[in-house]
Amino acid sequence: MTTPTSIDATEQLLASRDYVADRQLATAVFLALKLQRPLFLEGEPGTGKTEIAKVLAAGLGAELIRLQCYEGLDIGAAAYEWNHARQIMEIRLAEAAHETAAGAREQLAAGLFSERFLIERPLLRALRPPTLPYRVPPVLLIDELDRTDEPFEAYLLEVLSDFQITIPEWKTVKADTPPVVILTSNRTREIHDAVKRRCIYHWVDYPSAAREFEIVRRKVPQAQAALSRQIVVFVQELRTMDLYKLPGVAETIEWSRALLALDAVALDPETVNNTLGMLLKYQDDIARVQGSEAARIVEKIRSEVAASSAG
Ligand SMILES: Nc1ncnc2c1ncn2[C@@H]1O[C@H](COP(=O)(O)OP(=O)(O)OP(=O)(O)O)[C@@H](O)[C@H]1O
Ligand SMILES: [Mg+2]
Repeated sequence: MTTPTSIDATEQLLASRDYVADRQLATAVFLALKLQRPLFLEGEPGTGKTEIAKVLAAGLGAELIRLQCYEGLDIGAAAYEWNHARQIMEIRLAEAAHETAAGAREQLAAGLFSERFLIERPLLRALRPPTLPYRVPPVLLIDELDRTDEPFEAYLLEVLSDFQITIPEWKTVKADTPPVVILTSNRTREIHDAVKRRCIYHWVDYPSAAREFEIVRRKVPQAQAALSRQIVVFVQELRTMDLYKLPGVAETIEWSRALLALDAVALDPETVNNTLGMLLKYQDDIARVQGSEAARIVEKIRSEVAASSAG
């Protein structure tokens, strides 16, 4: 699959893998591909940030290389590591063979920091040429960057701006063709400007009702359209409330699957009350919605449906 040549084509590429992007996101993705710039996606949980990278990799026929960030992530886990055990074994073997002449020692020392003893981690692997069956550069997903710390962000700068990694004991590895780089953050803290400046930035917002409906139709096609519409209206209504944690698209999809499993054909207060845990993950939020509030929203949806079928 070739790189899309327009925003429309980018939208189609994403849609072919059931990803429903709005125009702004499709534009950001198109530009990231065209200009070979990393794409920085920030937004609420469950709004489709990680999914973009998966869908792009599948759509482009590229390998997905994923770096899941966490507190304390270091270069050894993210970029590369020397295989110390193998290096030591090599030294012992040389000693056993009595290779103690000065020339042999130097040769051994030089060889210890060569490709043979290098363990590639995601960042380094993403800069290497694609290996079969892949024929195009990989998609590198640096997921949840806000979970790491600032020194790691600083380390990323070389990768993001020059698509290269300097390995002091060996050489600088530079990508022939840059990978497609997607970074995501849930904004539990601000990412440094220096990182953002090297990227195309896009805020992934909750979808409009129309787009969320299309997402549910694609992801849970077995559910009847009427039910899916009610589900979306309900979730969108919840998002206008002052809750501790609003439901994301992921929750809308999960709730749809749950209601389908319960053979529901329409929302009713009891079913909603019994399944709120699919949408809300904090007891305080559930307590606020359960009961009268849930009944109010269901009633509102019913009267809207009645009004639209009457008119
Ligand atoms: N625009 C969309 N089109 C299709 N599916 C979507 C869309 N947005 C979200 N989804 C679906 O919602 C689910 C959650 O998406 P994803 O894991 O990418 O969210 P996220 O933003 O990375 O969340 P988190 O911040 O919690 O990691 C996935 O199953 C994904 O398929
Ligand atoms: Mg994610």
